[in-house]
Amino acid sequence: MLDSALLADLRAARRVVVFTGAGMSAESGIPTFRDRLTGLWARVDPMEIATPRAFRADPQRVWDWHVHLAEAVRAARPNAGHEAIAVLERARLEVTVVTQNIDNLHQRAGSAKVIELHGNLLRLKSFVDEEAAFAAAAPPVICPVCAGYAVWERCDPWAERADLRVIELRAGRVPRCPGCGALLRPDVVWFGEPLAVEMLEAAWNAVEECDALISVGASLEVEPAASLPWRALHRGARVIEVNPAPTALAAHCHASIGAPAAGTLPELFATIWPPL
Ligand code: APR
Repeated sequence: MLDSALLADLRAARRVVVFTGAGMSAESGIPTFRDRLTGLWARVDPMEIATPRAFRADPQRVWDWHVHLAEAVRAARPNAGHEAIAVLERARLEVTVVTQNIDNLHQRAGSAKVIELHGNLLRLKSFVDEEAAFAAAAPPVICPVCAGYAVWERCDPWAERADLRVIELRAGRVPRCPGCGALLRPDVVWFGEPLAVEMLEAAWNAVEECDALISVGASLEVEPAASLPWRALHRGARVIEVNPAPTALAAHCHASIGAPAAGTLPELFATIWPPL
């Protein structure tokens, strides 16, 4: 699987980034986005379901689509790949998981340091309707509960953020912020939206400092996330890809393992970094 020189370099690594995409959770039963027949985007146009404009046009349709995905996420369990990554932290490595996934499975497997580049499906935030907020005559009020632009006058300045924590992404009418009445939406990055600056900075810093990066189940088709494994490679870190369908990275990284995540990671990590 790995040549002896690469194995020696990996064993000498102290800081490891595990970069994951939807393929990481495929063996937990959560569909990927771009797999030809089974991918989510094979069944619906993401521009109709995963953009601020789509939500503004039909909040209920967008809400219901995310509820359906959230039900699959709640029913899923971390797979052996997620668990192998969590065990890595016991091999006295500094492990940072940089994930594009919104399913919370790395955290449920026990990984401590997880950077969620694209947010988390099970967390809500207010829908900041920029057009409505900035069209308003008065400057927008920031709601203390949902931290969004309060669209309604009755925003209660003494309301607690806790009010929002009790609202979940479940079937039913699109909920509104109890503080200001703004519509709520999943706290995920939709197409056309920027990533949270602090997440991107944390991911970039982890990649700048790592000795090794393992890219697992990522098609590397969506920026800026897709640039992260390439940056690690150009910096001189040892880079491995685990993906049944090798990406463009495969021809340039130090090893490309054309196999599924859950079936590969436990043996791969135990070979390179046996738990102490
Ligand atoms: N193990 C490892 N990799 C797998 C497995 C598996 N069992 N099954 C599929 N894959 C690979 C596929 O070959 C593909 O390269 O996982 C990858 C999934 O690619 P995408 O569906 O494009 O998912 P991802 O790379 O995470 O997409 C990035 O695009 O739509 C946006 O926000 C969305 O975060 C997502 C981003």
